[in-house]
Amino acid sequence: MGNASRKLDKTLVLVGLMGCGKSSVGRRLAQRLGVEFVDTDDEIAEAAGMSIPEIFERFGEKGFRDGEVKVISRLLSGRPNVMATGGGAFMSPLVRAEVERVGTSIWIRADLNTLWGRVRGKPGRPLLEAENPKQILSNLMDERYPIYGTADVIVESRAENGHETVVNDILKGLDDFSSRQSEEK
Ligand code: S3P
Repeated sequence: MGNASRKLDKTLVLVGLMGCGKSSVGRRLAQRLGVEFVDTDDEIAEAAGMSIPEIFERFGEKGFRDGEVKVISRLLSGRPNVMATGGGAFMSPLVRAEVERVGTSIWIRADLNTLWGRVRGKPGRPLLEAENPKQILSNLMDERYPIYGTADVIVESRAENGHETVVNDILKGLDDFSSRQSEEK
């Protein structure tokens, strides 16, 4: 599929657990499509004037989630682009409803060892600042995968493959999704 010639009429919203590659894949996907890339965590941090760990520390997870919903709604009302969301964003029914209305959701699925290999030892993720971060990731998989599974397009990220493979799989998944949609009409 000719990538840059593909006209983006809806924002592509990347969802998935920490370490699945939303930001790295999103940046490359946006480049291929010739559109802007936004990372909602960066936007939340900028709006708050502090880092994500600082937001969690000062306002708790609830405070962070409130800010997250507001920032995502604002960003979704802008021009179609590629958006990487924080891992918890798509768990909000409000965010899901808004994404369904104006965007296309894409879940980058990965198994536990792939995720763990990418996040272990990396600071900046308050939910994993615990004694058993791998167990926490595993619990989050149980909790979130059924919801992520409602995304419009689902692709797999494997430890042995590069981000470009995921980008190609997303472009193909988007084609399949639009064919399915036109069949339904
Ligand atoms: C979170 C994921 C983080 C960030 C915050 C909470 C989550 O984003 O939004 O620490 O609930 O899974 P990444 O998925 O980009 O690491």
